[in-house]
Amino acid sequence: MKIFIDTADLAEIKDAFSWGIVEGITTNPSLMKKAQDKQGGTNLEEYVKKILVASRGTPVSLEVLGGTAEEMYAQGKKLYSKFKNYGAVVIKIPVNPSVDDNSKVHYEGLKATKMLSEENIPVNVTLVMTPEQALLAAIAGATYVSPFAGRIDDHLRKQRGKEFGKLDYFNKHGIKDSKGNLITDTGLVSGVHLINSIASIFRNYNFKTQILAASTRNARQVREIAEAGAHIATIPFPVLKEMIHHHKTLEGMKAFTDDIVPEYRKLFE
Ligand code: G3P
Repeated sequence: MKIFIDTADLAEIKDAFSWGIVEGITTNPSLMKKAQDKQGGTNLEEYVKKILVASRGTPVSLEVLGGTAEEMYAQGKKLYSKFKNYGAVVIKIPVNPSVDDNSKVHYEGLKATKMLSEENIPVNVTLVMTPEQALLAAIAGATYVSPFAGRIDDHLRKQRGKEFGKLDYFNKHGIKDSKGNLITDTGLVSGVHLINSIASIFRNYNFKTQILAASTRNARQVREIAEAGAHIATIPFPVLKEMIHHHKTLEGMKAFTDDIVPEYRKLFE
């Protein structure tokens, strides 16, 4: 499984890439806003170019604004042509983006995905919350689908009111409520289960579309996402750090350091 970094924060991107294990970047309007706020406002076009340069030729997802298929297609083309000389731009299209003033939902994401994919512009279909959405996105020609694991867990928690707090983890087997019933939403017991299900479907039909597990919230979830067979997990920098930490590792390092005798140091001279 590849690791992407889920941030638009240039300092985090540079730091994470320096570790030598990151192979792509995902951004969205919220992450761009967070990065801009931190900078105290910035020329976003120049900032995006810097992100692309920092990406060292790996895929960088940039999201459209939404709207009709034609609008998203035009926005995707614009982003692609504007930034493609700076890095490997991937256009992020929400799977089901548009609700009009009469609360009517428009299914424009798939159309835009097909239009861009047919022109060999790589598309990352985002905000995927069900295996069915992922299946349709794959048929439409998406290069990546982004199932939002953490947000499915949020949703399952919310359904149960105060019974579960933010730190309760919905693992791959799901968790039970106080009456012993497994908590599900349309058969999904967790965000990891969502990814597991998509992986089975894609394997059954040899889809080339890659599963880019998103909305990752902690190290254990990333582990279970890897077990589930995601091709990529996009991970916020703090979670990436959490994946490396273990108190026994730190304890072990301290003990080794305490045991270094002068003769051992001489080996490095
Ligand atoms: O890649 C999607 C991600 O940025 C959303 O994460 O934690 O806001 O659900 P989160």
